[in-house]
Amino acid sequence: MVITLREYLDKTGAGEQLKDLIVLIARQAVPIREAFLHNQSYAKSFNASGEQQAALDEWSDRHITKVLEASGLVAELASEEQPDIVRFPGARAEYAVVMDPLDGSSLIQVNLAVGTIVGIYESGGVLQKGENLKAAMYMLYGPMTVLTLTVGEGVYIFALNEESEYILLSGLVQMPEGKLYGSGGLRTEWTDAHAFCIDTIEHDGAKLRYSGSFVADFHQILKYGGVYCYPALKEKKGGKLRLLFEAIPIGFIAAQAGGAISNGAGNLLGVQPSSVHQRTPLYVGSKGLIRRMEELLRE
Ligand code: AHG
Ligand code: MN
Ligand code: MN
Repeated sequence: MVITLREYLDKTGAGEQLKDLIVLIARQAVPIREAFLHNQSYAKSFNASGEQQAALDEWSDRHITKVLEASGLVAELASEEQPDIVRFPGARAEYAVVMDPLDGSSLIQVNLAVGTIVGIYESGGVLQKGENLKAAMYMLYGPMTVLTLTVGEGVYIFALNEESEYILLSGLVQMPEGKLYGSGGLRTEWTDAHAFCIDTIEHDGAKLRYSGSFVADFHQILKYGGVYCYPALKEKKGGKLRLLFEAIPIGFIAAQAGGAISNGAGNLLGVQPSSVHQRTPLYVGSKGLIRRMEELLRE
C-alpha cells in the first residue's frame, strides 16, 4: 500500500501547522532540483563561515527563505548562507527554522549527491539545544530525491515520485551497528587523539566511505551503520561543520534512528548554542561505535 508524506504525517502527533510546514519545505526539492541546470558555477560571494558560495547555495537560500516568509508560519530563521538570524515579525506562528540550504556544495559541479538540511523548533528561536527540536529532515538529491524525516516518532524515508508526491520507502528506520567510516580534515591536521581513534577502528575492519557531502555520507551511515566524523583539528578546535545547520538536525535524526551524535566529549544534542555560525567537532553514527570513539578519545 502506498503511503504519502501527508498520510504519514496525519497519523503522527504533529500539529496541523507543523505538518503544513514540513510538507511545504519538502516540496521545495522540486524547484531546487530544477535550479541545478542553470546554477552550476561558483558565485563571487563568501558566506559567514568564510566559504565561497556556489550559485546554487545562494539560489536555494533565497528560494527557501522566500517560501518560509510567505508561509506565515516561521518567526525566526537561521541559514548557513545568511550572516544573521532573520526574523519574520508578521508570522502567525512561532516556529523557528535552522537550515543548510545546500549541503555538499563542492559536489554540485561533479553531479554527486547533495542535499538540504532543516531543523524545526516549535517556539523560542533558533539558538536552542538540539534535543528541543520538534522535527528534523533532509532532502537528498541523488538518483532519486529522498526525504528523511523525523517528528520525534522515529525516522521515516520517502521518495519523490513522477507526480512530485513523496511516497513512503521505509519506516521506523533503525541504524545498525556497522563498519563504515569517514572523517573530514587532512590527516596532517588531525589531533593525535583522533588519529588514534581512526587507526583503532581501521584495525577493527572499518571501511572508508567519504564523499564530501555530509548529508549523503550520513544517509549511507543511517542505512549501513558506522560513523561519520568531522573532528577538532590541531589549528581549528571547532572543526568545520556548523552546530545549528548541520550537526543538530542530523544528530536529532541519528538519535531518533537509535544512533548517536557526539562532539567527542558527550551528547551534542545537549549543547546550548551561543552563536549562529558556531562550529563543532562531530562524530555521528551507530550508538556502540560513537560510545567507543568517545572512550578512545579520552585515552
Ligand atoms: P557546505 O556545502 O554546506 O558548505 O558543507 C560542506 C561540508 C559537508 O557537507 C562535508 O561533509 C564537508 O563540508 C566536507 O569538507 P572537506 O572538504 O573538508 O572534506
Ligand atoms: Mn553543509
Ligand atoms: Mn551549505
